[in-house]
Amino acid sequence: MKQFKISIPASSANIGPGFDSAGLALNRFLTLDVTEQEEWEFEHKSHFLPSFTDYADHFIYKIAKQTADRHQKTLPGCKVTVASEIPLARGLGSSASAVLAGIELANQLCGLSLTGEQKLQYGTDIEGHPDNIAASLFGGVVVTATTQNNQVEYVRLTSLDLDVVVCIPDSELKTETARSVLPANFSRKNATSASAITNVMIAALLSGDYHVAGKMMENDLFHEPYRAELIPNYENIRRKAKAKGAYGTVISGAGPTMISFVPKGKGAYIREQMEAGLTGYTIAGLQIDQTGLQVN
Ligand code: HSE
Repeated sequence: MKQFKISIPASSANIGPGFDSAGLALNRFLTLDVTEQEEWEFEHKSHFLPSFTDYADHFIYKIAKQTADRHQKTLPGCKVTVASEIPLARGLGSSASAVLAGIELANQLCGLSLTGEQKLQYGTDIEGHPDNIAASLFGGVVVTATTQNNQVEYVRLTSLDLDVVVCIPDSELKTETARSVLPANFSRKNATSASAITNVMIAALLSGDYHVAGKMMENDLFHEPYRAELIPNYENIRRKAKAKGAYGTVISGAGPTMISFVPKGKGAYIREQMEAGLTGYTIAGLQIDQTGLQVN
């Protein structure tokens, strides 16, 4: 009888101007304890998880079944105990983590031997963009692109000397809503400026010039100007974090969480400083998770 554990980190997509492309993994986890048994059964061990009525309606089961079907396999029954530290609809990649959980569940139960690239492709097909999926799957900071023939390419940036601080409001914001305010098209001039800002941000991260990276983060032209009004305390949080020593603060994914990139070792101090005067928030100093999805 198979017994295993799947662990998947949260993620923060975009890093400002890396819209639908860049992401990083965070040390908050979705975990599945899986034991094969005759019948399917899900048990939830966290208030962050949505309610469900029947195993067949469970989001993770549906993704697992879809993945097994793709390989003409039948899922054997099992008991899945799910725990999560990732709040829903806050811009911390809870949906991408659940998608990967379903893909990995099928991979393990049906012996699919999926490669990282296949998992990335399957997850992106479901999510519609690779940023959260790639970060949660591989860990670290990941930059992705979807090419014309719908193939996903990625590069993982290693050893960034950064801590992050997240300001998570009590309120939710659906990704669908946050995407509905974005323009359908950009003029060539705007697209050129926007992508130039992204290029400099990535180049600055790579060369360790975090001041320039932070400046570029806060000058996104792809999504932040349109989403700012949906995000509570948008300007206030950016200003305050900068005053306390953050390099840059951006919307985490589609929001409403804001994420600040701060000098390594200063996370705890800046988190403490951000707490003063900001009510209705969970403020946390987090680390960039370097391992990504794990099975053991
Ligand atoms: N890149 C996505 C967005 C992440 O900003 O809409 C949320 O799914």
